Amino acid sequence: MKIFVIGGTGLVGSYLLPRLVEKDNEVFALTRTQDKIQRIKKIGANGILGDIRNLQALKKNLPDKLDIIVLLAMPSVKPGQRMTKKLKEELRKETNDFFRNSMDLAIDYNIPIILPSGTSFKTENDEIADETWPILRIGLTEIGTDTDEMVNRAIKTQNPKVIQLLYGKIYGNGGLFRFIYNMMVKGRAKIIGKGDNYIPNIHASDAASAIIKAIEKLPIGEKFIIADDTEVTQKDFTIYMAQLMNKKRPGHIPAFIIRLVLGKDFYEIIRLNCKVSNAKAKRVLDWKPDYPSYKEGLEETIKEMKVKKNYFA
Ligand SMILES: NC(=O)c1ccc[n+]([C@@H]2O[C@H](COP(=O)([O-])OP(=O)(O)OC[C@H]3O[C@@H](n4cnc5c(N)ncnc54)[C@H](OP(=O)(O)O)[C@@H]3O)[C@@H](O)[C@H]2O)c1
Repeated sequence: MKIFVIGGTGLVGSYLLPRLVEKDNEVFALTRTQDKIQRIKKIGANGILGDIRNLQALKKNLPDKLDIIVLLAMPSVKPGQRMTKKLKEELRKETNDFFRNSMDLAIDYNIPIILPSGTSFKTENDEIADETWPILRIGLTEIGTDTDEMVNRAIKTQNPKVIQLLYGKIYGNGGLFRFIYNMMVKGRAKIIGKGDNYIPNIHASDAASAIIKAIEKLPIGEKFIIADDTEVTQKDFTIYMAQLMNKKRPGHIPAFIIRLVLGKDFYEIIRLNCKVSNAKAKRVLDWKPDYPSYKEGLEETIKEMKVKKNYFA
């Protein structure tokens, strides 16, 4: 298959591209950086130079025929950056452009597209969210409000044909997780507030394998929660990571300080309590995580991060 990956040089993309190539697909990966074109080539894929926000220029570099598009690109948020109203509005516009242009491209080629989102659900006590739950847009996740509408419209009209994967917090060798790792190395990682809220997790490699299953099965118009099998609080995840890295147990930072320093938008998502079910992905996609819990996943990831950086970093 001819597969165009937008965001193939990011955290999930770096696990996805080699596997798509291994499976004998002809893979095209978009990047804004000339330097990464060679690196994409080295793993047997084709680097496409361009920016998803500039569709006209990008189209000239694409082949005449494609079979499917995978969107993984997202506008970057600098770790530690305060989320202002202005910045949030810029991110919302940028995210809208990413979705609109990627979906327009899928319409042009008349092919399906796999789109990303997050497990933005608010659960209480023993509640477990599944794909029938409404996506909650609060804090920073509000930047996805318009794209939810775009996706829901496409599901209704089948134009373009979409599949959406709702990822838990993605960890692996690269992306924002490298920032958390570096904070831990410096002994500066903190538990936010009490840290007793549950956050779903998924290893980047398992996020990639879910995309491969979605390409194989093509369940058009469906959404799937992609998270591992294990419930864990923010606190226990952080403490376990510190233990693996032989660091002392991270202290707590009062939630109101996070709110003051990083703004209400970050505060609201960091404090969100969410437990999810991955049963639909297992049933329909025949997918299951190779790292069913953060424990095995973190162990492997920390080992890897000690010795090498992300391939595209
Ligand atoms: N990380 C998480 O915890 C999490 C949780 C839920 C959902 N998600 C979603 O899952 C997807 C994958 O996440 P990730 O962590 O792998 O993402 P990531 O590492 O942040 O990926 C960044 C990618 O986006 C590309 N990109 C950024 N701006 C671009 C532009 N204007 N035009 C073209 N490409 C652009 C970058 O390409 P170049 O720099 O090479 O140009 C890079 O390949 C994202 O959509 C993300 O929102 C992530």
